[in-house]
Amino acid sequence: MSSADLVIKEGRVAISSSLRSCAIAAKDGKVTWIGANSSAPSARRVIDASGLVVLPGVIDVHVHMRDPGATYKEDFRSGTAAAAAGGVTTVFDMPNNSPPTMDADSLGRKVRAAEEKAVVDYALYGLLTRGSSREIAPLAEAGVIGFKCYMAETTGSVAPPSEDEMREELALVRMAGRRVSVHAEDDSIIRPRISKLREAGRVDALAHYESRPEVAEERAVSRAIALAREARCDLHIAHLSSAAGASDVRTAKRSRSRGGADVTSETCPQYLLLDRADYAEKGSIMKVNPSVKRKEDRLALWRAVRDGTVDMIATDHAPHSAEEKTAGDSIFDRPSGFPGLETSVALMLTCVNRGLLSLSRYVRLTSEGPSKAWGLYPKKGRIALGSDADFTIVDMKREWRIDPARFVSKAKYSPFEGFEAKGAAVYTIVRGGVVMDNGHVDARSRGEMQRPL
Ligand code: DOR
Ligand code: ZN
Repeated sequence: MSSADLVIKEGRVAISSSLRSCAIAAKDGKVTWIGANSSAPSARRVIDASGLVVLPGVIDVHVHMRDPGATYKEDFRSGTAAAAAGGVTTVFDMPNNSPPTMDADSLGRKVRAAEEKAVVDYALYGLLTRGSSREIAPLAEAGVIGFKCYMAETTGSVAPPSEDEMREELALVRMAGRRVSVHAEDDSIIRPRISKLREAGRVDALAHYESRPEVAEERAVSRAIALAREARCDLHIAHLSSAAGASDVRTAKRSRSRGGADVTSETCPQYLLLDRADYAEKGSIMKVNPSVKRKEDRLALWRAVRDGTVDMIATDHAPHSAEEKTAGDSIFDRPSGFPGLETSVALMLTCVNRGLLSLSRYVRLTSEGPSKAWGLYPKKGRIALGSDADFTIVDMKREWRIDPARFVSKAKYSPFEGFEAKGAAVYTIVRGGVVMDNGHVDARSRGEMQRPL
């Protein structure tokens, strides 16, 4: 073949759930050749991946870039550069912006921000809120990857739709051929608890957990599944955090064969690696919605990751300024969320090294799982001829300590500060372009918007 743009050789390459010693060539953004190292074509750039593992580019379906509306927390450039730094090649941006991404106009504003600044590829969600019905078809037409529905209050002023409205909106999303990601927490359980805890003078971080207990997720997950089933709409449960939620998703997946809605789910490193015992030490830095729960929930989520109940690992990268995260005296005055794009790959590879999950399972959770659920497969989500040349090249042996002061994200703190990681992304490659090389990010705007195929 004629000369390639990029050749990666001497690495072990994750191809359909096994590791093969081979070389890969990319041209015009696509994988154009896979074969023996000794017969690799010439290329403008050659990466020697000896001792490294070449994974399909990591897809993160849950990030908040804060652009437009709160670019002091993050913007499309800083957030996607953080993705590149962490080893993530495609991000799906959430719609709880100011203005919320809820109609063609607000989507247009976001598209322009992303086009101007994105370093890695991206997809955009539209919002389902009160009065969204008439915006669903135009948003789908304009290329949203899917929709997000908040069932409880959270960052941004997005009102959860009533149950009846949600059912109607789900039916319209189905007609538009999209999937709905739900933030499954029950507002009617959370609100009175927050009031009571505030009245009782509770200001500590554990009070956040108490205000958003397991049952808040359980109720919302089962309600979302029931409504999606009735509307026959494909459903995605975002950031699963509890044993009960995972168990409901497992049951729903089993009944899929009897004609139920297609249900997928994600969880995040914080629910797999932290639990209630960590609030005392980490305080409001680990405040996130849904709350981090008990040890038994954490262990149940690991089971769900291993048995396929969880289809993908996302981060819920939700940056706020460090001042906001420590403002005032009460946990209830501080915002929820923290950055995750620069820690997720390393944390999960550390778990692989610890024997908590296999590398092939991890690869599925970050490539094929998300790309199939959201309609990007086979363009993204696998290493194969004709697919996008997106790669996360990792060093499984690299030992290092997480230091948020070095984050590329504007949010330079993390509940994982000081974590001893084993494993790191050393190259991030988007459609054949190297956007991160040994920690150095090339922050040019080369990201492209991804629409369902
Ligand atoms: O902790 C959270 N932060 N959970 C959400 O649902 C929203 C997010 C944010 O946007 O800050
Ligand atoms: Zn989120």
